[in-house]
Formats: sequence, C-alpha cells, structure tokens
Amino acid sequence: MRPIQLSPRLCSVAEQVPKGANFADIGTDHAYLPVWLLQRGVIDRALACDLRQGPLNRARATAEKYGLTEAMEFRLCDGLTGVRPGEADTIAIAGMGGETIADILAAAPWVWRENCLLLLQPMSAQPELRQWLQTHGYTIARELLSQEGDTLYTTFVVQAGPMAALSPAEQWAGRQVRGEDAPLRTDYLNRLIAQTARAVEGLTRSTRPEDRVRLDALRQVHCGLLELREEWLSWQR
Ligand SMILES: C[S@@+](CC[C@H](N)C(=O)[O-])C[C@H]1O[C@@H](n2cnc3c(N)ncnc32)[C@H](O)[C@@H]1O
Repeated sequence: MRPIQLSPRLCSVAEQVPKGANFADIGTDHAYLPVWLLQRGVIDRALACDLRQGPLNRARATAEKYGLTEAMEFRLCDGLTGVRPGEADTIAIAGMGGETIADILAAAPWVWRENCLLLLQPMSAQPELRQWLQTHGYTIARELLSQEGDTLYTTFVVQAGPMAALSPAEQWAGRQVRGEDAPLRTDYLNRLIAQTARAVEGLTRSTRPEDRVRLDALRQVHCGLLELREEWLSWQR
C-alpha cells in the first residue's frame, strides 16, 4: 500500500510527534494523522477519537484501506472524555475552533498533570486559546506556520508549565524568537496587521459606548503588531 500523503497543515502537526509516543488524535475525522504516523513507524498504536459517528466511520475506513485497523482504537467521545489518564502522552487536536480546543482541555485536567505533549491547531480564536493556555498553566513552546492555498495555519506545540506573560499583540501573533526558522511569519504578521486595521476602522465609526473599550484594546493590539513586525524584520537583516 502506498504511503498516505499529508497536506502541509497536517504535516506540521505530524512532524512534531516523537518516536514511540502514545498518541491520541482528538477530532480525528479521516484519521490521516494516525495512519501517516503508523505507516512511518513513528508510533506503534493510536487512539482515534471523534465526537460524531460519521467521521469515526471515515477513520475506520482509512485504517482498513491501509491495513492498520489492528493498530488503532476508535472511540466515539467528546474531546478527551474517552481517553483515560496514562493512555496517551501526545495529543493532537487539529482542525477545530480555538474555543472548542480550550473546552476540551478544560474538561481533562489530567493532561496538564501528566505533562502531555499537545499539538493544537486552532482554526479560529487563536488569541483566546493563547490566553486560555497562559492562564491555565500551559506553555506554548513553539508555534509553526503552514500554508495551504491562500490560508495560513498555526500549530501550537504545548506542554504544562508557566509561560512568561504574553503582551496583547503576542496573544494575537504568538511569541517570536530571534533566529527561529519561520519563513511565513512576515506574511502572518502582515495579515494580522491588516485584520486589526480593518477592525479598528470599523469600531471607529461605531457610536456604541461599549465599542469604545474594544476600540482601545484593538488599537493597542494593532500598534503592538506593528512593533512585532518591525522587530521581526530587523532580525532578518
Ligand atoms: C474539521 S475536522 C478536522 C479533522 C482533522 N483533525 C484535521 O485536522 O484534518 C474536525 C473534527 O473534529 C470533530 N470534533 C468537533 N468537536 C469535537 C469534540 N468536542 N470532540 C471530539 N471531536 C470533535 C468533528 O466531528 C470533526 O470530525
């Protein structure tokens, strides 16, 4: 059977899984991630979990197609409710909203206690997820950007442990490190700068008093992002 190919988005998650990991894929859908890891011998077994029967059936079908059914367990469950502490040390939660990812982690405090490696790929609400991780004792060790078509995706590599406070702009863009290999970062910052500029412009026209506070906060984020970009570009020279 030919090896399964992953898109750049899923590849950026798969490449972070350590050899020999006890791996769980939460919201597995088609199970491409565990199948890719099993085929390459990165892992020996995997838990493939999904909230819905349809996606879990797709996961089973992929495993069957690649002759890997015996190496996988399929669990119909909400988040990590079907995974017992100790069953997984590396957990991927990819392709879901940031708030859903935070809810899943909030309902499974053992993940923090057991210092699991978390590979999180939020499709939305990234600032909220960074903030949630910060206030719940998690550290974002690294962020990886990947691109598919015109869309940029972010993968957070996370473990338990205190993280130095993120500035408002860092909550939006993640922390940048001098010398890190991140060719898509300038594009990522440019997009966030454009997004916050549009939001600031929209709020400036609003007459609702509650938007005043949001406007001030967003202006702060926008200015911080401009500074992050300046710093990032100065490091590239
Ligand atoms: C867009 S798919 C992502 C599939 C795959 N992880 C990826 O990144 O390509 C999202 C999957 O997450 C599942 N899902 C959504 N909320 C969930 C939850 N609370 N617990 C488990 N699975 C969930 C959905 O049923 C769906 O199959």
